[in-house]
Amino acid sequence: MNLLIMGPPGAGKGTQAEGIVKEMAISHISTGDMFRAAIASGTEMGMKAKEYMDKGALVPDEVVIGMVKDRLQQDDCKKGFLLDGFPRTVEQAAALDETLNSLAIKLDGVINVDVPLDKLMARLTGRRVCKGCGASYHVIFNPPAEEGKCNGCADELYQRDDDNETSVGTRLNAYMEKTQPLIDYYSKKGIFKPINGDQDIDKVLEDIMAAVK
Ligand code: AP5
Ligand code: MG
Ligand code: ZN
Repeated sequence: MNLLIMGPPGAGKGTQAEGIVKEMAISHISTGDMFRAAIASGTEMGMKAKEYMDKGALVPDEVVIGMVKDRLQQDDCKKGFLLDGFPRTVEQAAALDETLNSLAIKLDGVINVDVPLDKLMARLTGRRVCKGCGASYHVIFNPPAEEGKCNGCADELYQRDDDNETSVGTRLNAYMEKTQPLIDYYSKKGIFKPINGDQDIDKVLEDIMAAVK
């Protein structure tokens, strides 16, 4: 199954992706995680992306599109994949259609996680992320069993550089201006799955699994 998960920053894309890829045994492709990995290993592309990400702005389309095109051609994507955080602009969506066509791959579903925008600031400023496996936690809404430590791999939790009020404000604006129009783009394709993301994490996953099966 080839899926895409979208929604505003903090909607729970990463949190839900963990459950979805486990249940469906497919590959998780998060462009945000790919950029953070490039930053951690100090590549030129990573350093360029960091300038945009820290401010909360989108990385230019040409950088992201090339990176995803390469990723989709790797072997592990043959078992199916879940794209998270891509596409984020109409240009990226058109490029994805073109790439999938050329690889003879069909998209089976577009999961749209909907959360009222006024709830996102608290979700993001309280988020903690695992250094080892990238799992998302929240100091109040989804705390780890032991403070500062990942339940899964026991690695240390950290706060993302873009999870501060100023960057979150810019990210929300970028979402409304550039990404929200994709709802219309995918609604017309008949594979659009609207999901209420303003519920318990487990209930959201249950609704997603019911919608894509
Ligand atoms: P990216 O890493 O994709 O960030 P984002 O879209 O802003 O989304 P987040 O990862 O912040 O949120 P999420 O929906 O995954 O939420 P999570 O599950 O963690 O991108 C980062 C940056 O990279 C961008 O700003 C841009 O610069 C660049 N970039 C990436 N892709 C790009 C692209 N395609 N084009 C251009 N630039 C790109 O959950 C959030 C918090 O809420 C957590 O604390 C979690 O525990 C909590 N939570 C989750 N679900 C619930 C729930 N149901 N109830 C209560 N709390 C919950
Ligand atoms: Mg995420
Ligand atoms: Zn971990």
